[in-house]
Amino acid sequence: MHEDTATTDVGTDWDWVKAEDWQPPTELDTGIPHTARMYDYYLGGKDNFEADRKAAEAAIAAYPALPLLARTNREFLGRAVEFVADRGIRQFVDVGTGIPAVGSTSEVARRVAPDARVVYVDNDPIVATHARALLASHKAGHTSVIEADLRDPATILDHPGLRAAVDLDRPVALMLVAVLHFIRDEDGAQEIVRTLRDALAPGSALILSHGSPDFASRESAAEGTRIYKSASAPLVLRPRAAVEPFFGDFGFAGPGLVQLPLWRPEAGHVPTGDLPGGWQDVSAYAGVAFKA
Ligand SMILES: C[S@@+](CC[C@H](N)C(=O)[O-])C[C@H]1O[C@@H](n2cnc3c(N)ncnc32)[C@H](O)[C@@H]1O
Repeated sequence: MHEDTATTDVGTDWDWVKAEDWQPPTELDTGIPHTARMYDYYLGGKDNFEADRKAAEAAIAAYPALPLLARTNREFLGRAVEFVADRGIRQFVDVGTGIPAVGSTSEVARRVAPDARVVYVDNDPIVATHARALLASHKAGHTSVIEADLRDPATILDHPGLRAAVDLDRPVALMLVAVLHFIRDEDGAQEIVRTLRDALAPGSALILSHGSPDFASRESAAEGTRIYKSASAPLVLRPRAAVEPFFGDFGFAGPGLVQLPLWRPEAGHVPTGDLPGGWQDVSAYAGVAFKA
């Protein structure tokens, strides 16, 4: 069982940020389930509190394939980063980064291109806490960490931390992996993504995954949505027809927008794993598309 504390002893390569990029730490409210910490729990992490675990357990009870979804989503992230890096992209803006876990964007990107530049953006203070702890022990490099909200894309695009790390006149991989389902339509989800897409140079990529009701029972989807109503962000499961427009006029790389585990599975093997559920139960979409 977990202790009721969040720890910072992870070893990723978040190695640089300009000091002036940081806001004072926001106080952690450990009584409210946080999306990042619930996701950490699904992944078997230890950076979560009692409220996160209770809500996560309730969500798993409603939809037992949730830990499998989280794991296959992480695997998608790694495959997609490698895919675009293999096609020459050297700059990554990872919005909704999450608590550091194995297979971070910078880790994967730098396996292909050691000079890859990565900007991490998240609005959860615990992510910033981790980053701050890690950055303190790392030398200068090409990674920037920004505490900002996806609902305010202009702040992200104009942020000195982003501008210092990436050149928006050159191709960038914009990553919106398992984050848009925390943005409501009334918060302008489509407009937000359009603003970000419009800021990218030709040759840029959009890497996106999104929770959906399409492969879950109506009851599971409704219960999951209900549980997240008391969390730090609401859950907005979208059907395929509402996910596809996030890509705008970007051209899909094969196989297009597909059920998440089916996006270029490693060596053609769709993951099944040792967790409850099978890949058919993973109720999410994933796709990668490029700007012409
Ligand atoms: C499910 S986790 C996904 C983490 C990672 N992208 C992955 O796929 O493994 C969602 C992340 O999005 C962040 N998030 C949720 N709403 C956000 C918002 N409005 N702005 C920025 N980040 C947000 C959460 O704090 C959390 O870290």
